[in-house]
Amino acid sequence: MTKIIELKKLKKHYPILGGVLRRQINSVKALDGIDLIVNRGDCIGIVGESGCGKTTTGKAVIKLHPATGGNIIYYPKDNSANGSKTGIDITAMSGSKSRKIGLTGKMQMVFQDPTTSLNPRMLIKNIIAEPLRTKGGFSSRQMHEKVIELLNLVGLTKDHLLRYPHEFSGGQRQRIAIARAIATNPELLVLDEPTSALDVSVQAQILNLLKKLKDEFNLTYLFITHHLLVVKYISTRIVVMYLGKIVEIADTQDLFDNPMHPYTFALFSGIPSTDGKAVSSRIVLTGDVPSPIDPPAGCRFHTRCPFVIDICKKHPPQLESVNNNTTHQVACHRKNEIPELVKNSFGKTGS
Ligand SMILES: Nc1ncnc2c1ncn2[C@@H]1O[C@H](COP(=O)(O)OP(=O)(O)O)[C@@H](O)[C@H]1O
Ligand code: SF4
Ligand SMILES: [Mg+2]
Repeated sequence: MTKIIELKKLKKHYPILGGVLRRQINSVKALDGIDLIVNRGDCIGIVGESGCGKTTTGKAVIKLHPATGGNIIYYPKDNSANGSKTGIDITAMSGSKSRKIGLTGKMQMVFQDPTTSLNPRMLIKNIIAEPLRTKGGFSSRQMHEKVIELLNLVGLTKDHLLRYPHEFSGGQRQRIAIARAIATNPELLVLDEPTSALDVSVQAQILNLLKKLKDEFNLTYLFITHHLLVVKYISTRIVVMYLGKIVEIADTQDLFDNPMHPYTFALFSGIPSTDGKAVSSRIVLTGDVPSPIDPPAGCRFHTRCPFVIDICKKHPPQLESVNNNTTHQVACHRKNEIPELVKNSFGKTGS
C-alpha cells in the first residue's frame, strides 16, 4: 500500500467576527486536529452527525478552505513507483507551486447538491471544460473531444453538450458534476454526500457509476456521508467523526463487526435490518451535540456518553490501536471495556 495523503493534526477553525470593528471574538472549531493516512486506492468513508466536520475535512484536504493548523502531506505517484516515500507538505503551497509539481487538478470534490454546485447560466460543455481551462495546455479541439469522452463515461452523450443544468434531472446533474470532477484525471476525489440529494431510485445508479470510475481510473475516494449502509457498500475503511475529532477508524467490515467507541455504537443503533429490527444494541443518545465554538473539555463526547468517568472530563483521549490491531484505532479512555459495557447495558453488540 502506498500513501497518497497524510493529514497531521489538521485543523480548521472558522473565525467569528463581532463588534463594530468586526474583530475576531471566537471561532468555530469545525476540525480540531485530525490525523489520517489515506492510501492509494482506498475508499475512506467519513461518517458522523450533521455538523461534526465532515465537509470541512473535505474542503480542507482539497484546500478549498485553507487549514488553520496542522499539515497536509501529498505523496506523488512517481515517488512511490521509485520506492521513495517522500511526501510534500502542500498545506500552504501556492497555486503556482502546485502547478509546478503537477498537483493542479489532482484532487477534486463532488458536492452534495448538483442544483447549487453547477452554474445555472453555463452550458454543460463549458461546465465540464472549466477545470481543463484552469489546468491549461489543451487546444479547443482537444477540450471538445475530452468533454464528449467525459460525458460518455458518466452515461450521457454529445447531445447534452449545448444544454443548461436545469434541463436535467437530479441524477443527471450529479453525473455532470462527476464528469467535471474527473476531467483533469484526478488521483483523489472528495465525494460529499454525492447521493443524499437524489431520489432513492437513482442513488444506486450514481453509487455504481462511482464504483466503476474508481476501478477504471484507480481513483482514491474520501466518501462523506451520514448514510451508514451507503458507506458499508462503497468504503474500504471508515472514519467516525464527532465534534471536529476522529473517534474511531477501522476497515469497514471490522468496524461493523467490532465497533469500540460508544459513539459508533450509538450511530449503528439507527441502522434497521431487513426485518425492520435494529441490527445492533440501541444506545439512544441524550442531550444535544455541544457547540463547536466551545467544545467540552476532555473527551468531547463525555456530555452524552453513558460510560463517562472522571478522567473523561479532564483528559482528551488519544486515537490509539486496539488489541494490537494497527488498522483499528479508537479514542476512548475505556476502549477495551466498551463492547462488554454496551452488551451488559444495552443488549447485543455488533451487526
Ligand atoms: N464557512 C463556515 N463558517 C463558519 N462556520 C462553518 C463554516 N462551514 C462550516 N461551519 C461550521 O463548522 C461545523 C462543521 O461543519 P461541516 O463540516 O459542514 O459539518 P458536516 O459536513 O459534518 O455536517 C459546523 O458547526 C458548521 O456550522
Ligand atoms: S473517553 Fe469516556 S466519555 Fe469519552 S467515549 Fe470513552 S468512556 Fe465515553
Ligand atoms: Mg456536510
